[in-house]
Amino acid sequence: MSRHRARRTDALAGGDHQVVVAAVGVGHDVPGRPRVLDDVGLTVLPGELVVVAGRSGSGKSTLCHLVAGVGRPTRGAVTVLGRPAHEWADWTRVALLPQRLALVPELSVLENVSWPTRLAGVEADPAPLLEALALGHLAHALTGDSSIGEQQRTALARALAPAPDLAVLDEPTGHQDDANVERVLAVLTARGPGTAVLVATHDHRVIAVADRVVELHSGRVVDAAAGSGSPRSR
Ligand SMILES: Nc1ncnc2c1ncn2[C@@H]1O[C@H](COP(=O)(O)OP(=O)(O)O)[C@@H](O)[C@H]1O
Ligand SMILES: [Mg+2]
Repeated sequence: MSRHRARRTDALAGGDHQVVVAAVGVGHDVPGRPRVLDDVGLTVLPGELVVVAGRSGSGKSTLCHLVAGVGRPTRGAVTVLGRPAHEWADWTRVALLPQRLALVPELSVLENVSWPTRLAGVEADPAPLLEALALGHLAHALTGDSSIGEQQRTALARALAPAPDLAVLDEPTGHQDDANVERVLAVLTARGPGTAVLVATHDHRVIAVADRVVELHSGRVVDAAAGSGSPRSR
């Protein structure tokens, strides 16, 4: 059994990990812009796909960053797998697809996808994911030479390749044409049962495969509804 697989089993078996994400009373201010988030509560259970929907400016990216541990909330608490979110610094456990991608253009697509697992010394074969996202032929090409859509799928592959406990995906279809939206949806729905996903999006095609949808409006949760996605076996 690989180190990766052993660790995953531990994570799912632990009583502390019945909830992947617990955000309670989360408020966030930035200089000159108070209440970007205001009293937000959010729960993600193991293996769930939860969508955070809302208009541009509603606070989706800010919430993604706080859940992925990039920064700490001004008020309230964000806990991931029983630990404060900002304490996680291992993308093989808690991964982020940032809206602005954060790729290294001088590295190849494969190198960008592989660095979290290499850094953590974790085994993962990204080849099937690259193929599923139509990136196989670009594996050894410079990331900076690829299109914005290809770069976004590269950043998605980087997030999903380690089969993290939680993948936080900020607008993963934002730069994709219809055929590639289908590819993104296919890898999301085919992910392993150990990976919970939080997706910020207003793409109805992503919302359609969600287990649950949380709607943000001006930094506040206005609706939390069951998604129409078919229940996944866990
Ligand atoms: N660092 C920042 N400085 C100033 N304003 C910010 C900052 N971060 C977020 N905001 C503002 O907070 C609001 C929510 O932003 P964001 O979380 O990016 O929303 P969304 O992802 O839903 O479009 C926007 O009005 C944005 O301009
Ligand atoms: Mg955003």
